[in-house]
Amino acid sequence: MDICIVGTGYVGLVSAACFAEMGNNVYCVDVNPDVVETLNQGRVHIFEPGLEELVRRNRDQGRLHFTPDIREGLDNSLFVFICVGTPPGEDGRADLGFVRQVARDVGRSMQEYKIVVDKSTVPVGTADMVRELIQSELDSRGLELEFDVVSNPEFLKEGDAVSDFMKPDRVIVGTDNIRTAELLRVLYSPFARSREKMMVMGVRSAEMTKYAANCMLATKISFINEIANICEKVGADIGDVRRGIGSDHRIGYHFIYPGVGFGGSCFPKDVSALISTAHEQEYTPSLLRAVEDVNRSQKKVLARKVQEYFSELGGVQGKTLAMWGLAFKANTDDVREAPALEIIKELTASGMQIKAYDPQAGENAARVLQDNPGVEVVKDQYSVLQGAHALAVVTEWNQFRNPDLKRIKSELEIPVIFDGRNLYPPRMLEEMGFSYFCMGRQP
Ligand code: UGA
Repeated sequence: MDICIVGTGYVGLVSAACFAEMGNNVYCVDVNPDVVETLNQGRVHIFEPGLEELVRRNRDQGRLHFTPDIREGLDNSLFVFICVGTPPGEDGRADLGFVRQVARDVGRSMQEYKIVVDKSTVPVGTADMVRELIQSELDSRGLELEFDVVSNPEFLKEGDAVSDFMKPDRVIVGTDNIRTAELLRVLYSPFARSREKMMVMGVRSAEMTKYAANCMLATKISFINEIANICEKVGADIGDVRRGIGSDHRIGYHFIYPGVGFGGSCFPKDVSALISTAHEQEYTPSLLRAVEDVNRSQKKVLARKVQEYFSELGGVQGKTLAMWGLAFKANTDDVREAPALEIIKELTASGMQIKAYDPQAGENAARVLQDNPGVEVVKDQYSVLQGAHALAVVTEWNQFRNPDLKRIKSELEIPVIFDGRNLYPPRMLEEMGFSYFCMGRQP
């Protein structure tokens, strides 16, 4: 099939490469000519395991094309996927400026029937808006062309994006048009092999499904973080409690790891966007607000532990903290809404110096932190320890899981580790002579 994908971020580029891998002919459109140039050279501008290889192979075999010209993509395709960003606006609502622009461009350029597919995360009702915008452009061109607008939200995770797309738990298609649904079923058949994986529903339900899924996952995380905080107070161990509740299949083990709070470009933005949608409908979303509140304070928990520890040693002022991890989670270079940034902000505001290392996110973090003189981003995992008074582990990269503990102990001024991801066995660390602070566990 011939497909045009507008937007080459995580969702757009991964979808494009995976559709091309299954033999489809895919045109990828991005307004940024530098990005198009990079992709045309077979390089990928975002860090995502396995993606560059997939992009290069499909480009070399002539199934994946990159262009800044939406007309070129449209003329050659039946499907147009909208995969542009919907960043949070100042009021918490999703900013649909890019989506609107694509809809207008489609209306201005299309010459025949198209199936327009919303893959960006967009508030309920956006498909109707996209339809109206395309129609008004067609009207002003005096053209009577048919088109469909479908909602097809994406559920891939950064860091696992390619395998999530290749093996989805489900494919959601929001449309009332049976023929369009069948065409999408054919397009997705290599990924959603069993028929039940493809779920066809009304457009608004599909749009809402995406928000409900992310808000449910965010709720699980805030819930377990709250339970971990209570565990600490009452002398219970969240690791045991997690196993104890996860074994109930109604609860499950996934997404109940306590930590430093959820970050990234999706959960914080989507919870806040659904809160705004609810308010617009004069509904008070008390639970979603609580999820946001818990997360906001969870991002400060590790910094508070550092401050409390140093309060007996004259405070954090003038002390140096080595930090492992800046990305909002492992296997990504993304620092959007990353808890590490919040921790750095809190501690440097109190006069602490931070030396931070991340396997992939160092450059992005250094850019965001350039106005903060209290932090230095370093390129080596162990050199951050030199002269530091303590180590904080903020992201769960594999290379932090089994570190050289003897070296950590000898390099640090004080053998103390603040572990925001519960990576190490508390008893072993204490036996080695570390003071060890983690999230909701007991020694
Ligand atoms: C999330 C969803 O998981 C995807 O299904 C969705 O498609 C995507 O948003 C999106 O809307 O585009 P992502 O933001 O890439 O994916 O990352 P996650 O792996 O979901 O992690 C989000 C945050 O939750 C991270 O900060 C992570 O550290 C935290 N988390 C996750 C926990 O603190 N505990 C857990 O048990 C799981």
